[in-house]
Amino acid sequence: MRQHEVVIIGGGLAGMRAAQKAQEMGADVAMISKIYPTRSHSAAAQGGVQAAVSENDSWESHAYDTVKGSDYLGDQDAIEILCYEAPGDIYALERMGVIFNRNDDGTIDARAFGGTSVNRTCFVADQTGQVLLHVMWEQLLKSGLTTYSEWFVTKLLVEDNKIAGCVALEIPTGRVEVFRAKAIVLATGGIGQVYNPTTNGLVVTADGQALAYQAGATLMDMEAVQHHPTTMQANGVLITEGARGEGAYLLNSNGERFMEKYAPNMKELASRDVVSRAETMEIREGRGVNGCVLLDLRHLGRDLIMTKLAQIYELARDYANTNILEAPVPIQPGHHYIMGGIKTDVDGRTWDITGENRWAGVEGLFAAGECANVSVHGGNRLGGNSLLDTIVFGKRSGAGATEYANSIDWAPISEDAALADEESGIKAIFDRPSDGLRSSALRFEMGKSMNDGIAVFRTEEGMTQTLNTVRDIKGRFPNVSVQNKGRVFNTDLLSVLELGYMLDVAEVIAVSAINRKESRGAHAREDYPDRNDEEYLKHTIVHRGKNGDPALDYLPVTMTKWEPQVRSY
Ligand code: FUM
Repeated sequence: MRQHEVVIIGGGLAGMRAAQKAQEMGADVAMISKIYPTRSHSAAAQGGVQAAVSENDSWESHAYDTVKGSDYLGDQDAIEILCYEAPGDIYALERMGVIFNRNDDGTIDARAFGGTSVNRTCFVADQTGQVLLHVMWEQLLKSGLTTYSEWFVTKLLVEDNKIAGCVALEIPTGRVEVFRAKAIVLATGGIGQVYNPTTNGLVVTADGQALAYQAGATLMDMEAVQHHPTTMQANGVLITEGARGEGAYLLNSNGERFMEKYAPNMKELASRDVVSRAETMEIREGRGVNGCVLLDLRHLGRDLIMTKLAQIYELARDYANTNILEAPVPIQPGHHYIMGGIKTDVDGRTWDITGENRWAGVEGLFAAGECANVSVHGGNRLGGNSLLDTIVFGKRSGAGATEYANSIDWAPISEDAALADEESGIKAIFDRPSDGLRSSALRFEMGKSMNDGIAVFRTEEGMTQTLNTVRDIKGRFPNVSVQNKGRVFNTDLLSVLELGYMLDVAEVIAVSAINRKESRGAHAREDYPDRNDEEYLKHTIVHRGKNGDPALDYLPVTMTKWEPQVRSY
């Protein structure tokens, strides 16, 4: 058995930042990552990280833009913390070695992004996440952090509703081990592969959300799923919002800048939900180009593109066979992010420390980054606020977990029982006939159904159909088999375990979406086209009920300064 006071599950930016903070505070901390940490999906965040670092900006303005962007579903106390701490965290990253793009006077440059009233997105060309991830990883290598790379966590161990540890599978050997911990921070990222296509990497399989849900924690606002306006049709690969931030146009088949019609002030730089809906309308009304609209960067010129957007030059060339210096690139809205996640407070705790038990949680379990929902994004996230979320709330949850671990004794743990349980689960999968149902087929069916029913526009009928499909797949899941019955690097087995996680989370998304009978942020219902503050200015919360089905409830939204207003761009 391994033993660490604080165990971080997930090796992306939120996990690294939590580990760094816990280490600084003197905790015995270890990070478990399904892949080598620098391969984490944080690397795919291209365009930048928001922070009010320039003289003509303020954290209050950042907070207001974020509240408005969230369509008033974000908790304003958490948003204030996010925006207030942002500049300090950007300078901390800079001191670690992140070489942000600069103005001529040496200050950090900031580009425009959707839904922001001033240029506020600090960036490193169009590879911001990649650079942040590598710099953070260098810091952790230097500090000698204990890291378990290529370990997959299969279960959280909970005793008396308190975290006792987790069980993990070492992928290269297939060995299963118990990790004893006083506190665990989940930082596993998003749900990308629940959808097909998605901008997210193949490793993004809702692991943390499912682990928390299965352990008794609460998921919140899971219906708030974001489609990014500029993704490539064939495979969902992202073209950064930074392209529009630098001045790229969106055109329909008539060559019109159609955003002038939908968002007269902000045009291409309206918030993501608004732009994705506008594109979908253009395509539906026959002004699309083979199911896409066009992103035109030609007028930006070679110099700007090759210095600030060089990665998307390569991506468009390699995946869309388009030279963006000479032709517009076809794009469409594609699944990108989930605003919902594991309900936490502003220190990453998944349980309610007010003593009022307003939501179900597990003591000692923390969460940060995309898998968490501290509620800074509400119904729609602004671009560049996710990297910031990982940095600010990764740090805070690392601190929270360390303080908690220092305050308690080790919980009892039964290693033998946990291992036997895990081994019997794996044996049951291996015992099924090799020629049975394939996880790849079910993953595909789930992903397509989610994209058909719970995407840019939604209806009761479409969402119900998706829920039925997900439940039908859940029914068939116990018959999924593997062809590879070996233990070494068995990605066939891994795919089955990940699918189990994703099906639980897909079901929660569908149930939550059906129950929000209004339109708010990315949750745009054709049958309930208006926002309904009277009935739905509240968070949807879900925990696993006694029969295993999602049990729904609601929590109030925290408001500090900003009353809901009509949202226009
Ligand atoms: O468009 C982008 O570069 C994505 C950034 C984000 O999702 O924050």
